[in-house]
Amino acid sequence: MQPRHVLESQQFNYEFLEKLFSSADKMRDRVKKKDKKLSSILKDKIMCTLFYEPSTRTRMSFESAMLRLGGNVISTENASEFTSVYKGESLVDTIRIIDDYCDVIVLRSDKDDGAHVASTVSDVPIINAGEGKLGQHPTQALLDVYTLKKEVGEIDQLNIAIVGDLKNGRTVKSLAYLLGKCGTAKIHFVSPNNFKVGGDITDYLQRHNTPYTETESLESILPEVDAVYMTRLQKERMTAEEYLKAGMGGFKMTNIELEKMKPTARLLHPLPHVEEIQICPGIEEIDKRVAYFRQAENGLYIRMALLEHILSSK
Ligand code: NCD
Repeated sequence: MQPRHVLESQQFNYEFLEKLFSSADKMRDRVKKKDKKLSSILKDKIMCTLFYEPSTRTRMSFESAMLRLGGNVISTENASEFTSVYKGESLVDTIRIIDDYCDVIVLRSDKDDGAHVASTVSDVPIINAGEGKLGQHPTQALLDVYTLKKEVGEIDQLNIAIVGDLKNGRTVKSLAYLLGKCGTAKIHFVSPNNFKVGGDITDYLQRHNTPYTETESLESILPEVDAVYMTRLQKERMTAEEYLKAGMGGFKMTNIELEKMKPTARLLHPLPHVEEIQICPGIEEIDKRVAYFRQAENGLYIRMALLEHILSSK
């Protein structure tokens, strides 16, 4: 049987999402109830997390998901230094070796095609957990759409603003593709002029008849959207000069912008957030619109559901 790789968000269809989301709901209930039987689901399975770039949520939620399902984890969080890549070994050789040690590899590559290349040689499923600057981060899109569906409603009714560094953000790419696939009502891309969304995404949306706009003004969009998906400037992926030029002046979410959002709207962010979110700390406790901590928690349940789907022999 071919391994079930997870490489790009557009590989999923709506039917699959419905099943995955319902399984994530069940995972949540079972975690909250401390259901002891959860830990028999992936007993004896081994997941390897191989991360060539920093991560907090993605790696830890995958590892927590595997452990909660009774599986085992082998891991390196700094693969460029802590694996033989440091001595010059290629990714292809590394994967060929590691695939004998585990049942699934969760890979965050620093190369734009790392997960795709790995999938051509791996005998076990590769899950793309972020692929360089130009690649995707499909499991982030799964948890983003899961959160949107839970908190805002049906995706085909959704009017969403995606804001920030739309040129370098891989979560933006995966989310936009998945929203296009789900028939989202409207997407507004809000960014500084030199950080606009790529032509690959706009072409895809056109092909999928998903209406979108591009603007530099966040303010005018805020009162009409059901959700705002903020992203940070990918500082580590640009020169100091580009960073200074970018100026996130009009792309900040302070209490003033938050007040302009509909009472039922939601503010999402893949995290980490830096200067683009400047609302008073603690406001997430009292203002339900601030959804990014719940979104990060959803990452655990979605990854549990995904690991079960990929690895369970049922
Ligand atoms: C994102 C990533 O690494 O691409 N974070 C994440 O996985 N939650 C977004 C980012 O780093 O800005």
